[in-house]
Parts: sequence; structure tokens; C-alpha cells
Amino acid sequence: MPNNLLVEGPEQGVQVFTLNRPEALNALNTELLENLAKALDDAEADREVGAVVITGSQKAFAAGADINEMAARDLVGILEDPRVAHWERIARFTKPIIAAVNGFALGGGCELAMHADILIAGENARFGQPEINLGIMPGAGGTQRLVRKVGESLAMHMALTGEPINAKRALQAGLVSEVCQPELTVEKAIGIARTIARKAPIAVRLTKESVRRANDMNLAEGLRFERHAFTVLAGTADRQEGLDAFREKRKPQFKGQ
Ligand code: CAA
Repeated sequence: MPNNLLVEGPEQGVQVFTLNRPEALNALNTELLENLAKALDDAEADREVGAVVITGSQKAFAAGADINEMAARDLVGILEDPRVAHWERIARFTKPIIAAVNGFALGGGCELAMHADILIAGENARFGQPEINLGIMPGAGGTQRLVRKVGESLAMHMALTGEPINAKRALQAGLVSEVCQPELTVEKAIGIARTIARKAPIAVRLTKESVRRANDMNLAEGLRFERHAFTVLAGTADRQEGLDAFREKRKPQFKGQ
């Protein structure tokens, strides 16, 4: 794996991916995005991985798509952009993703953070969709995911002015679940990921999918999906183990079955 993406673990069920292009504030060029998508594919197949953490540096989670690379693409280049497939692979990852965000999370960086299921932000984090300043617009889910996460008015404000919001505002808006000192974000994210990695994997997977579907479905469809998923879990050995362990006053030993 080239070193624009550092991979650690799995340790205690958690793999940590660190974006590592310090010379470009972790701008997501195609190679980095592809490496991340491939690493997630590997993590998907690895039963030792229960959850992953994605982070960047103290200064930047990621400052967006690589503007130099983007500038070299014309209309056909954008139409045939391989990045679309990489984004799709990241979006369909079935295990929980925790993002530990410090510094700039702009454009594609904010969009990547929004692919996470739980976001932990350092006090210095700045989330923004500044594409409008470049005469373009968000193209990796920024207009769609942002509105679902922070509501239309703030999403419009961010996407139309290009102005970022700070960590405190992101917390108020519901974009992030916790704000802490920048030095602690990764530790916190790993802690959350480890907690999740100890749960029953099939229940975790179906819970993630069910919560995600709340954005795509109306309430009646979503409730039906939840009920089906809940019913499927009745056939798992881990459900039996979870219920037995509670009644026997011991810790459950989940096996992903
Ligand atoms: N692409 C390529 N290089 C980038 C970059 C990006 N998105 N962001 C920063 N860099 C590079 C800078 O060019 C600079 O390189 P040099 O030292 O070689 O000049 C280096 O990273 C450090 O950046 P700055 O000197 O600009 O650092 P700063 O602290 O003064 O400013 C910043 C930080 C406000 C984040 C500023 O770098 C900036 O505005 N970056 C661009 C942010 C942006 O517009 N992102 C959206 C990109 S489009 C997109 O993301 C679309 C999509 O996904 C579909």
C-alpha cells in the first residue's frame, strides 16, 4: 500500500486508516481515494475487523479533491471519472466507520467525513463545501448528505457561500457526535470503534444499514425494513448468546454467526 494511506491494525477489532498527503493537506487525489476504497474492501472481507477509523492530520482531515488533478480533467474526463466508483465503494462499506476529524474537512474532505457513521471532531475542525468558490459545486454527495445531516438552511448556507462551520456549530447542527481536544480525536474514535467491534457483527451490520436507510425511505418502508432486519437476527447464534449471557449474568462471546 503506498504511503499516502497509512493502515494500522486490526487491533481489538479496529483498523485505523490515516490519510497521509501532508504536502497537499490530504487532498484526495484519485490514487489516495482508490487506496482507501481498496483498503475498505480488504477490511470488509477481514473478519477480524469490526469497525474502522478514518483520520487525517492535526491540520487537515482532507482539504478536498485534488484541485490540480481536477483542473486537468475536461467534461469527458469528469464524465468518465474513476473516482465515482471509488466513492461508491466507500459508501457501501457495511461495517461502521468512525471519522476522527481535525483541521480542514473541506469539499471532498467534508464529503468523506460524511461517509462515516459517527464523526468525532477536534475543536479546530472546520467543515465546509467551498466548491462554489471554484466555480463548481460538490460532486461526491455534498449537496445530498449535508442537507440530510444538518438541514436545508445550513446546507444551503454552506454550499452557496462556501463558508465553513467550526466544530461547535457542527456539533449543534448534528453533523458530529462529539467535540474534543484535537490530540484526543483518534483515541476517542478508536474507543468508540472498539466498543462497536465487541458487539455481535451481524446485529451491527443490520443496525447500520437500517439507520442509513432512514435517509432513503419513507417511515413506513423504513419501519418494514427494520422489522425484517430484526426478524433476521432471530436466526443468529449471536442473538441466542446475547440473551443467554444476560440471563446467566456473564459477558457474551459473539462469533458473527
Ligand atoms: N488540492 C490540491 N492541493 C491543495 C488542496 C487541494 N484541495 N488544498 C490545499 N492544497 C495544497 C496547497 O496548494 C499548498 O500547496 P503548496 O505548498 O505546494 O502551495 C498546500 O496544500 C498547503 O495549502 P495552503 O498553503 O493553501 O494552506 P493554508 O493553511 O494557507 O490554507 C486551505 C488551507 C484554506 C484549506 C486552502 O489550502 C484551501 O482553500 N484549499 C482548497 C480547499 C478547497 O477548495 N477544497 C475543495 C476542492 S474541490 C472538491 O473537493 C470537489 C469534490 O470533491 C467533488
